[in-house]
Order: sequence, then C-alpha cells, then structure tokens
Amino acid sequence: MKNSKIVGMGHFVPEQVVTNFDLEKMMDTSDAWIRERTGIETRRWIRPGEHTIYGLGYNASKLALERAGVDASEIELIVFASVLADHGFPGGGCFMQEQLGIPGVPAIDIRNACSGFTYALSIADKFIKTGTYKTALVVGAEIQSTGIDRTTRGRDISVIFGDGAGAAVVVATDDPQKGILTTHMHADGRYAKKLWCDWPSIHYTPAVKQVFDDPEHNFPHMDGRYVFKHAVTRFPEVIMEALQATGYTIEDLDLVIPHQANLRITEAVAQRLGVPMSKVFSNIQRYGNTTAASVPIAMSEAWEQGLIKDDALVCLASFGGGFTWASLLVRF
Ligand code: UT7
Repeated sequence: MKNSKIVGMGHFVPEQVVTNFDLEKMMDTSDAWIRERTGIETRRWIRPGEHTIYGLGYNASKLALERAGVDASEIELIVFASVLADHGFPGGGCFMQEQLGIPGVPAIDIRNACSGFTYALSIADKFIKTGTYKTALVVGAEIQSTGIDRTTRGRDISVIFGDGAGAAVVVATDDPQKGILTTHMHADGRYAKKLWCDWPSIHYTPAVKQVFDDPEHNFPHMDGRYVFKHAVTRFPEVIMEALQATGYTIEDLDLVIPHQANLRITEAVAQRLGVPMSKVFSNIQRYGNTTAASVPIAMSEAWEQGLIKDDALVCLASFGGGFTWASLLVRF
C-alpha cells in the first residue's frame, strides 16, 4: 500500500488587522478580557467584498503548490473544508478548482467546522493510500467576519473568530516510515446545537419565511463553557488515540499543532498531556480562531519557522462544532 506525504504547505490571510481595541469601539468588551480569556490580540477580517472563501483557499493553495514544486495540473483530488460558504451551493471546492484551471478533477466539500481540515486531510490520505490518486490538494478556508454579530449581544463569539486559509499538498510515497501514519475522526451530534448557526437554512428561505433580521437564527451561537469543557477532554483523548495506534509516546512528539480555539484550551491540553508549551504551536494571538483554516495556517507557519524539520513527528488535532474532533500523526 502507498503512504501519503505532505510535501508543501501554504497559507493566506486578509490584509486588515483588527485589534481588540478596534472591537472595543464596536461592542462592550475590553482588550484585557479578550487576552485573559482567549489569548487573542488581533485577528484578520476581510474588508467588505475584498475576498471570497474559495479565493482565500486559492491563494493559500498557490503558495503550497509553489513550495511543493507541484504544478496545479498534477492535482488529482481537491478536498475543500469550510464551515461557511460563499453561496448556498455549490461549495467552495468547485469554485476554487475553476480558479486553478483544472476541470474534471474531483472536488469534495467538507463542512465539519473546526475539524474540517483534519477531516479533509484524513479523507485525502485514504484516497492516496488506496492508490486511487497520487496528488491531492487539501484546503481549509474561512470567512467568519461577515457572519458574526459584531454587537455586545454577540461578543462571546465575535471577538474569537477570524478569516484566513491554509492548504497542503499531499502526494503518494512508497516510503512506509514517512507521511501520515494514522488518522482518527469522531463526531457527537448530541451536542450539535451547543455551537451552531441556524442560517442558511431551508426553514428561513424567501419561499418559506422572512426572518432574515432575527439574530436568533442568523448568527452563530455557542455555549462557550460547555464547548470549553468538552474541548479540554477530547483534544488529549484523540491525541493519545493517535499515539496508541502507532506505538509512539508523548515524549516522541516533536510538535503538536492543535486547532487554535482558545489559548487557555491549548494550555490545558498541554498540561493534561504533559507536553511543554514549547512543543505546542500557537498563533491564535495573531489570527484568532479561523475554524477550518486554523490547523493548516498553523502548520504552514510552523513550517516557515523551521519547527517542522525533516523526520519530525507532528500531531495535528482538532475539536469544534458538531461536536467533531480528530487527530493525525505525521512523520515529515
Ligand atoms: O473552535 C472550537 C469552538 N470554540 C471554542 O472552543 C470556544 C470555547 N469556549 C471559550 O473559549 C470560552 O468559553 C469563551 C472565550 C467563549 C468565554 O470565556 P469564559 O471564560 O467561558 O466566559 P463566560 O462565557 O463564562 O462569560 C463570563 C462573563 C459573562 O459575564 P457575566 O455573566 O459574568 O456578567 C459574559 O457575559 O464574560 C462576559 N463576556 C464578555 N465580556 C467582555 C462574554 N464575552 C465577552 C466579551 N467581552 N467578548
């Protein structure tokens, strides 16, 4: 059987930096509260009409392909993760495929929120391992800023989320020691409404009902404390699952790249696992939570910073809406 190897990573974030002080002008919040509760200092938000979700994905993909030395024409599969969409349908994968100029290549859309990229990478891995495809492009892209309630009413959510995209090029290899060693995906729909958005929905279309101005339906809602408690349990669980499946231990890990949900969640996970924070990548300070884009942006930045060296053992892990959670263990 083939193995699948990540050979290039890239990311792209919108130019506009939004500070906690900028948010103080929009709602009743403070830089001190946001830093203390989340670790976030700035996030990127698109300017009105500046980008599409698939366009962010395209920019990240171009960089990932360039770094991988792979031409777009070599891509045989696209897996595109984003919890939100530019349009009701189709998803961003087809629009991005058109931008890449590779008609005919399958484009799968994944909507598993913060676990979107880890799910997408797991799916690409299986297609490559089974020999179906040799080269896959896996993308996590998100524009959250236009869909959140930027008033005091929505402050628990709106101070957290940011926009951006990340991408990875995955290719088949015959080397059994290198690449994606194991993948683990989970979901628990009993908690779907602990972090969710009712809109867009078949229940509130022009044909059915006019409730476009109802914040109960239009904006995301989250039981933050509830999500927090589950996150600090599920992250360590799913990381240990990946280690146990491969016979590695915490000490063998060179780097953990968790979904950037909240710095306090990351610190609690590191403490529970007994991993020093120096081995846990964090960039939430600068980007906030970019849902499906957070793991690939973090992976791309970790690589840029020289933290993913040849032979490094890296664990990617996510937890978020659904609830969904997942992990992958990768030997670079
Ligand atoms: O990506 C995966 C999904 N998301 C997550 O993993 C997020 C998980 N949850 C969290 O990160 C945290 O629960 C939050 C950051 C969302 C909230 O932090 P918290 O420490 O759990 O605060 P809380 O919800 O218990 O609220 C404490 C207080 C409340 O006021 P009262 O009732 O004590 O008077 C909130 O109304 O903080 C208030 N509050 C705010 N104050 C200033 C909530 N949001 C804000 C805000 N600025 N932005």
